[in-house]
Amino acid sequence: MRISFASPSLPKTGAIVVGVKDGKELTPAATEIDKRTGGAIKRALASGRFTGAKGQSLEIVAPAGIGNSRILLVGLGKGLDELAQQALGGRVFARMNSVGESAATVLVDDGADDLPAAGAQIAYGARLKSYRYDKYRTKEDTSKKPTLRTLAIRVDSFAKARRAFASLDKVADGVFFTRDLVSAPPNDLYPETFAAEVKKLTDLGVKVEVLGEKQMQRLGMGALLGVGQGSIRESRLVVMRWNGAARNKKPVAFVGKGVTFDTGGISLKPAQGMEEMKWDMGGAGTVSGLMKAVAGRKAKANVIGVIGLVENMPGGNAQRPGDIVKSMSGQTIEVINTDAEGRLVLADALWYTQDRFKPQFMVDLATLTGAMIIALGHEHAGLFSNDDDLSAKLHEAGEATGEKVWRFPLADAYDKMLTSPAADMKNIGGRPAGSITAAQFLQRFVNKTPWAHLDIAGVAWSNKEADTVPKGGTGYGVRLLDRLVRDNYED
Ligand code: BES
Ligand code: MN
Ligand code: ZN
Repeated sequence: MRISFASPSLPKTGAIVVGVKDGKELTPAATEIDKRTGGAIKRALASGRFTGAKGQSLEIVAPAGIGNSRILLVGLGKGLDELAQQALGGRVFARMNSVGESAATVLVDDGADDLPAAGAQIAYGARLKSYRYDKYRTKEDTSKKPTLRTLAIRVDSFAKARRAFASLDKVADGVFFTRDLVSAPPNDLYPETFAAEVKKLTDLGVKVEVLGEKQMQRLGMGALLGVGQGSIRESRLVVMRWNGAARNKKPVAFVGKGVTFDTGGISLKPAQGMEEMKWDMGGAGTVSGLMKAVAGRKAKANVIGVIGLVENMPGGNAQRPGDIVKSMSGQTIEVINTDAEGRLVLADALWYTQDRFKPQFMVDLATLTGAMIIALGHEHAGLFSNDDDLSAKLHEAGEATGEKVWRFPLADAYDKMLTSPAADMKNIGGRPAGSITAAQFLQRFVNKTPWAHLDIAGVAWSNKEADTVPKGGTGYGVRLLDRLVRDNYED
């Protein structure tokens, strides 16, 4: 889909999208169209439930007096905020494809304080919604394929809208990269191929290093390596660096769980739904997409991304329940359940990150626990942190982007549940508070660094459509963390 910006005027063909405010109040463009169509809009508004409330829409097909295929009236309520503008863009995109429209023009002349910014947000919402994962389809009914080819935003000071969109478009590129990774089948996406995909970020100016098993062995990463040892696919640790600020400015760091497939290992998962564990690399996918976003829009910050890539398989060489592994931090871990593998991967990735980069803070992302889905469903990610300031900033960024977080407690009493009779700790704490004990485990590997853990088990994948997110890999976290960086850590 091509997205363009121009000054306000009525298009001669295609669909027109125009706003109506609360109480059926016509915007200037709606008034003009009503005049040209001999009152088609006022007649349409005379009956039915459409009042101009936020989220409503009403379509007038083949209007007389003008050459356009349809007029889509959209409710602006008392004015739309940023998220509502994005949602509007996403819904317009979906509607145009469902009716088979190929060109649409959105007239933005009312319903927001900053109209060029609103135009950019509408375009961003449409772009986010336009994502499709069709790499593996060899046949698809043309009636199911998207039809919308051009989306024109017409608004005063359109150059300003175009500029604002250019930066949002880069964030969308990052979101799409994450969605591609998360959607990829695990026979094609495994540690080595994942690392190769990330290596392509070099083109955007990201420095990418890929550590193999030998290098990780030398670093003492026994926790991460133990998880991958049952797979014929070799494990990888990928380090990404975007240097957008002065050299002496401390970086911010993001760390992701990248289990390219989680069978559970010897503690094998049940067959039902196991295919979902292809997206157990969602944390690493988000970190990779975030790096693409910040590099794409040339963020003025130093940003580190570290992802631990492993495949958790049973097999003759697989890790056993009862094994004791030694992590890079020197701490030993008794592996009680090989299905609690994400924390073992992150233990070494987190320690490595703070040890090498001494960042201002670390945020890790992981599809870490099924218990997270029980607690929060699919509406918030769980937030666990040793730092109130970082937590508050994440919460704000979540409200601003709609990628919400909800904080859970950490406490010594939970930490004690990890006590092992044989090693420094065991890798599970039992059923109660399963998401919290997982976070307590991670906290043992962050040293003194300000840190936050986002358990994204419930939000990395979605089985239902949302306004700006199609079904499947959501790309959750790219917008959230890009916003965290943009609002707080750029020069
Ligand atoms: N990747 C899973 C968690 C998960 C489950 C994410 C379902 C998304 C959907 C993780 O590795 C896991 O298996 N966790 C176990 C931990 C338990 C063994 C302590 C779990 O949640 O059951
Ligand atoms: Mn697991
Ligand atoms: Zn897992």
